Amino acid sequence: MKKQLKKIIYNLGLITVVEKLNYRLTKIRREKENKTFLKTYPDVNLPPDFYMYETFDLNYEKFYNGGKDTAQWVVNTLSEYKQLDKVKILDWGCGAGRVLRHIPDLTTDSTVYGSDYNTNYVAWCKANLKNCMVKENELTPPLEFDNNFFDVIYSISIFTHLSMEKHKQWLDELYRVSKVNAIVFITTHGKAYATKLNKSDKKKFKKGILIEHDYKIEGNRLFAAYQPPKLFEELCKSSGFRVLDHLERGIKNNRPTQDVWILTKN
Ligand SMILES: C[S@@+](CC[C@H](N)C(=O)[O-])C[C@H]1O[C@@H](n2cnc3c(N)ncnc32)[C@H](O)[C@@H]1O
Repeated sequence: MKKQLKKIIYNLGLITVVEKLNYRLTKIRREKENKTFLKTYPDVNLPPDFYMYETFDLNYEKFYNGGKDTAQWVVNTLSEYKQLDKVKILDWGCGAGRVLRHIPDLTTDSTVYGSDYNTNYVAWCKANLKNCMVKENELTPPLEFDNNFFDVIYSISIFTHLSMEKHKQWLDELYRVSKVNAIVFITTHGKAYATKLNKSDKKKFKKGILIEHDYKIEGNRLFAAYQPPKLFEELCKSSGFRVLDHLERGIKNNRPTQDVWILTKN
C-alpha cells in the first residue's frame, strides 16, 4: 500500500479495520494453495493463520518450506564464521517459529533458544517446538539471559520494526548476552528497500537518517524502519560490535531483499 494512502487510513483511525480486512482477503486468496499444502504435508503442525500472516505471509508452503530454506541459508552463512556444533544459539524475534523450528535439525548438539515480545507467539512456540527453549521479552530490554551467554544470535526482520531509541538499546542488549567471539546475524532494510520510499524519505535515507513509518506502535509489522547502511554500521560499533561483513543482496525477482550484518564481540 502506498505511504499516502496508509497515512489517510491511519488518520481516519481505520488501520486495524483495514488490517483485519486484508487478513481475511489474503486467507480467501490463499485458500486453495494452503489446502494443497495440508494434503501434501498432513503431519506438519502450523501456527494459527493470523500468526503466520502477522509475522510473515499467510502462505503455508512459504512459511514451512521457505522457512526451512531460510534456516539453511542462516546456518550456511553463520558456518562461514563459526562451527555450529555444541553451541548456544538464539533466534531473537523468533515470531511463530518459522525459522527457529528448523534450526535444531540443521545443527549438532546445540541448544537452540528463541525470544519474542509477543505473548501469543511465545506461547505457541513453547507448546509446539519441543526442541527449542523459548522465552518472552518486553519491547524494551533486557532479555532473560546472563551476560556472555550466546555463541550465536540471529535476528530476522526485527530492527526493521523498531525506532532509533530501540536500535541503540537492543544492540547494547545483544552485545551483553553475546560471548566474546560470538557471531551475530542481523537483517535490515538497506538500500534495496529504500527504492520503496517516497522522494523526501529517500533524501533523508541518503543523508543517513533512520526512516520510521509508524502506522502502529513499534514492534508491530505496521511500524517499518529503514536503515541507511552507514548509520547501522555506526550504531553497531557504538554498542561495541565489530562489523565482519555487510551483505547487500539487492533486488531479486523484482522484490527488495533485506541486508545482512555479521557482527562479532571482541
Ligand atoms: C516480521 S516478524 C519476523 C519473525 C521471524 N523472525 C521470522 O522471520 O519469521 C517480526 C517479529 O519481531 C518481533 N518483535 C518486534 N519487536 C520485538 C522486540 N522488541 N523483542 C522481541 N521481538 C520483537 C515480533 O513480535 C515479530 O515476531
